Parts: sequence; C-alpha cells; structure tokens
Amino acid sequence: MASWVANTHAAVAMVLLLLMQFGLPARSKPVITDPKCVDYDPFERCCPPPSPKKIVNFKPPPQSSPLRVRRPAHALGPEEARKYARATALMRALPHDHPWNFFQQSNVHCAYCSGSYFQLGHNYPLEIHGTWHFFTWHRAYLYFYERILGKLINDTSFALPFWNWDDPSGMSIPPIYRHHSSSLFNPTRNPDGLKFISLGGCEGNNTLESLPKQRQCNLQVMHRQFISGFKSSLLFFGGKYRAGDEFSPGGGSIEGSPHGPVHLTVGSDMSDLDTAAKDPIFFAHHGNIDRLWAIWESTPGKKREIFTDNDFLDASFVFWDENKQVVRIRVRDLIDTRKLGYVYEEVPLRWMNIKTTVEKAGAFVAMDEKEAVRFPVVLSSQVTVNVARKVGKEGEILVVSDIALDGRDYVWFKVYVGKVRGGRVEAGCFIHMERRANKKIPVVTKLQIDITQFIEDIRADGDDQVVVTLVPKVGGDKVAIGGVSIV
Ligand code: C2O
Repeated sequence: MASWVANTHAAVAMVLLLLMQFGLPARSKPVITDPKCVDYDPFERCCPPPSPKKIVNFKPPPQSSPLRVRRPAHALGPEEARKYARATALMRALPHDHPWNFFQQSNVHCAYCSGSYFQLGHNYPLEIHGTWHFFTWHRAYLYFYERILGKLINDTSFALPFWNWDDPSGMSIPPIYRHHSSSLFNPTRNPDGLKFISLGGCEGNNTLESLPKQRQCNLQVMHRQFISGFKSSLLFFGGKYRAGDEFSPGGGSIEGSPHGPVHLTVGSDMSDLDTAAKDPIFFAHHGNIDRLWAIWESTPGKKREIFTDNDFLDASFVFWDENKQVVRIRVRDLIDTRKLGYVYEEVPLRWMNIKTTVEKAGAFVAMDEKEAVRFPVVLSSQVTVNVARKVGKEGEILVVSDIALDGRDYVWFKVYVGKVRGGRVEAGCFIHMERRANKKIPVVTKLQIDITQFIEDIRADGDDQVVVTLVPKVGGDKVAIGGVSIV
C-alpha cells in the first residue's frame, strides 16, 4: 500500500513537473521560446543580455492609454521626424550592454533567425521566417521597440513610422533616413534606393522616363502578391510550424515579395537577415509589412479567418520590454493592433483594384512527352512544364514542391502561368535571402500560389492544362525543384 501511494505520488509529481516545464499537455504543440539564448556562431554574437530568472507574462496596455497612430515615413512633419531621430539617438547612446541599446535591440532579430533561441523542450532552433509566425513575431518585435523608444523620450503616444513603399510617393528611401548626421542613417545602403525601391523585378535605369513604368510595375507586384494569398491564411501567412518541426514549411505570399526585394534593394545590412535590423529603416519596412496584415484583415471579400489553431495562438516569444523586464507574449495577444494600442493611418491603396498585365502569346506552348522535364531539376536555366488543372475547395493552388537549397544562398526565381499557345502572367516568385553561417544549412521548402484569378486573366478557364514556367533570376544553379503541380 505504502509503495503504491509513493509510486502514484511520484507519477503525479512527474506529470506536474513536465507540465511546469513545458507549460502544456503533450497534445498541444505551439512553439514556445526557451528564454535561454545561445549564440549559434561564437563569432557572430546575437543574443540580447541574458534574461532574468523571472519572466513576466504579457499584459496588454491599458485601453485608456492614448492610441499610437503609425504614419507614412515620407509624410512625417519636421517635429515628428525630429522626435523619432532623437529617440533613436538616445537608444544608440545607452551603455552597450543595456537591453534597450540599439545594437542589442537589432540583435533580437538576429537571434530569432540564426538559431540562437531554441524551442522549449525540443532540440530544434526556433526560426520564425518562412512560417506562419512571420507576421506575428515581427508585430511583437516592433511593439516593444516602439514602446522603448517612446519611453526614452517620455512620450506615451510615440508611434513608429511605416515605409509606405506600396504607394508611388513612397517607393524610395524616405527623406528622414537620408541625412548623414541622423541616428536613422546607415552608410552602407545601395545608393540606387534613393531613387527607387523595387518590390520584385521592377528594376530599370531609374531615369525620369523609366520611373513611372517601374512604379507601375511595383503596383502590379503588390496587387499580385496580395490577391494570390488573399483567400487563405496559409497562403498569406505561411506554412504551419509547430513545436518540434524543422524550419521553413514555406513562407506566405507577402514574405516572398515585396518583403524580400525591399530588403535586397536597400542592400548591405538589410540584405542579410542576421544584420537587417542594424539599419533603422528595417523598422519602417516591417511597419509596412505589419500594416499589410492589418489591411488583409479589414479588406472585404470572401470570408477569411486568421488561424484558430491553438498551436498557432499559443505560441510565444520573449522580449525585453519598456519596463526592463523580459516578457513572454503569446500570438493570441498579437491579433488586434488596437488592443496593442496602435493603428495605421489610412492612406490610399493604389494597387488594390488594378488589372494584371497579361503578356502576349509567345513561346509558351505545350511540350510534347519527349521533352517533358524530369524532376528534380536544377534551375540553371528556365524550366517549362505543362500542369494539369484541378479546382479544389480553396480554389486552384499551384505548388512548387521540394525546393532544396543551402540556407546561406540567395535564390530568386519567378513563376509564370500561361495559357497553352496563349498569353501568360507572372503569378508569383520565390525568394530566399542569404545568411551568414560557417556550415551548410539544408533547407527544403515549398511555394504555394492561388492562381484562380490568374487563370481567369489568361482565359484558361476552359482548358485542362496550363503552362508553368520557372525563371531563375538569382542563384538558379544553387536550387533544385522537386516538382510542380496544381492541387
Ligand atoms: Cu525578420 Cu524582414 O525579416
């Protein structure tokens, strides 16, 4: 009897211990950040100052506090601009090991994308890019960053500006980031960005004659990426990522483009995820990304819903906050910007209702059996395949599967969908940003695009097949494609 009691006690204690350690019963599998940060590469230190023992659970700001209104960076008045630059200067001037120091703050991004944080209870590093946490994690990051800046200048209504690169008036580096003596300057940017920032494949010679066309091309990219991911949270946010999963189930439509190309065309620090946040323009770039999520939620149209899966909503991350505490914030706390105390100023969306350009019929013809591509194929030159159409419950989804690459490489290819012997449209793109590491990072991922609207645009509604062309832009010889299908 005594030993039975003792055993039962031991078993109960064990279960309690496990629950305490992992916080949740074994069945649910949200990704929980282990607050212990370990530098992945001793030469590249990204970990913020070590967390104290006590981690505080996030509490939303009181609803009575003033609403912060995030405004377009290029439209800031001199007073707002001065305030923002002063706050950033104060952040830079803090002692190096202060958790609010600009360097430490920018390192938080590096830590969350270089494998420095682990998933609590698992041997896997935590990587939020290329997953359904792309939007949510960056929202949390900006939330704390904004409040720390506000604290430094004693302004409870301070709001970060957003880089309105989806409007023709915002398609270059905003003026406040250009002054050499400003805390918002970064000397390593590509100077082309002063004239034009491409949202994906809209480069040109940046002259007065070509800029209007390049800007129009950017609006097309915006439209295409927004509508091709619009109907499903999986396509818009990115692939499911649960505790114990390996990284990169596949990024959402906006993460591919315009998110990637903006990083890459700003260049230098911004073009590598490890160093991106060392350029203050990062926070305006991600302000706009965050705004697109808010727009996605408020756009009328076919019913959409953000994931209701608890493995999504209960995922949590840790950050130093404006009270010098380390706070654990859950994804479910991040869904509504008003509850977080901020909104975006409404500005016109010039890309929302434009028409997709259909390239005239050309060489996009059906291949006969003999010429058929044998997958897997390395993308050293363009690949064209006929793909059988299939309309599912969620529409018609094109999948480029088993995209295999080394995570250190920069890879970019475009995806066209065409009518057999007819016109074609650019339906999307795949972008993987380079990353510094001393050993290979094997990545296998996929790209999914809702092509329902594009099929209509090319008038292929009545056809059994479409022609899909993958066109390498950068690093094609470094990527292998496992297959192309419509599911
Ligand atoms: Cu965390 Cu734009 O990258």
